[in-house]
Amino acid sequence: YSQHVKNTGVTCYTCHMGKPLPNGLWFYSSQTDYLRHYLDRDGARVISQTVAPASVNRSSVKQTEWTYALMISQSRSLGVNCTYCHNSRQFSSWREAPPQRVTAYHGILMLRDVNQNYLAPLQPVYPAVRLGAMGDAPKAQCVTCHNGAYKPLYGAQMTKDFPALWGRADWNGAPFPGIMTMAADTTKRDSTVATPVAAPAQRTSAKTAPAAPVGMN
Ligand code: HEC
Ligand code: HEC
Ligand code: HEC
Repeated sequence: YSQHVKNTGVTCYTCHMGKPLPNGLWFYSSQTDYLRHYLDRDGARVISQTVAPASVNRSSVKQTEWTYALMISQSRSLGVNCTYCHNSRQFSSWREAPPQRVTAYHGILMLRDVNQNYLAPLQPVYPAVRLGAMGDAPKAQCVTCHNGAYKPLYGAQMTKDFPALWGRADWNGAPFPGIMTMAADTTKRDSTVATPVAAPAQRTSAKTAPAAPVGMN
């Protein structure tokens, strides 16, 4: 995922933003068919590569409409227009496109992994009320993280203070020298276990507080 989220990363807040259900969840329906590009369909590339009419391009009008619907939704998800990722002289050209297009492509691949391997397989554990009309689990799309900004939360560093979220021990602090120092400090504190006693005591006293106010059941 680092090809897309770079060193900025994401936390629960990127998608959830203080709410139990994030924005832009989608389910199967004929209106959202194009979003299956983020799940189990490929084939957004519809522009002919030849000048004269030839039988090499088999894209249908419907496929072309899916591509444009997908592109309009990507633009709206990021609050940008087509030229943020394309040279409008030749929409299909990667060489002439701004680098953001490659980042966006890695975003598509990331979403496929998230949707195929993490969100869709949760289907059997959701209560029926959380499933779509066709019985599928909620899935994410670009707006789920981006919320209308070219970078989620306008590029605020999310994982800097949570190195464990990178999921790779050898990544801990690598892009952030400050965190390397913190990790080293922790080891030092472990070897001189003598002082830190106050915090656990506080937690115990919190447990003895009244369990729940009347009427909270
Ligand atoms: C890529 C976006 C994304 C990120 C990041 C993310 N979530 Fe979620 N989360 C979702 C989606 C999509 C759902 C499904 C919503 C639904 O049930 O309709 C969900 C649902 C949940 C639910 C169930 C809510 C409910 O009421 O059913 C919990 C709990 C939850 N997430 C916790 C977390 C935690 C904790 C983290 C961070 C460790 C996290 N999420 C990070 C997208 C995300
Ligand atoms: C956030 C970046 C981004 C934005 C904004 C964006 N695109 Fe795209 N576009 C892409 C990527 C990435 C692909 C390649 C998708 C794939 O192959 O899975 C693509 C593919 C296309 C294609 C297919 C090209 C081909 O080879 O056939 C067309 C047409 C297109 N975009 C048009 C548009 C239009 C029109 C807009 C504005 C409404 C737009 N795009 C906005 C990133 C973007
Ligand atoms: C899991 C959350 C998440 C999802 C889903 C996601 N992105 Fe991103 N995206 C990010 C983060 C974080 C960054 C910031 C990376 C950085 O700092 O360069 C980013 C950066 C980008 C950028 C680079 C912007 C720039 O100006 O450099 C583009 C373009 C982009 N995303 C497009 C997309 C598209 C298109 C999708 C849907 C196919 C998508 N993203 C889905 C988290 C996400």
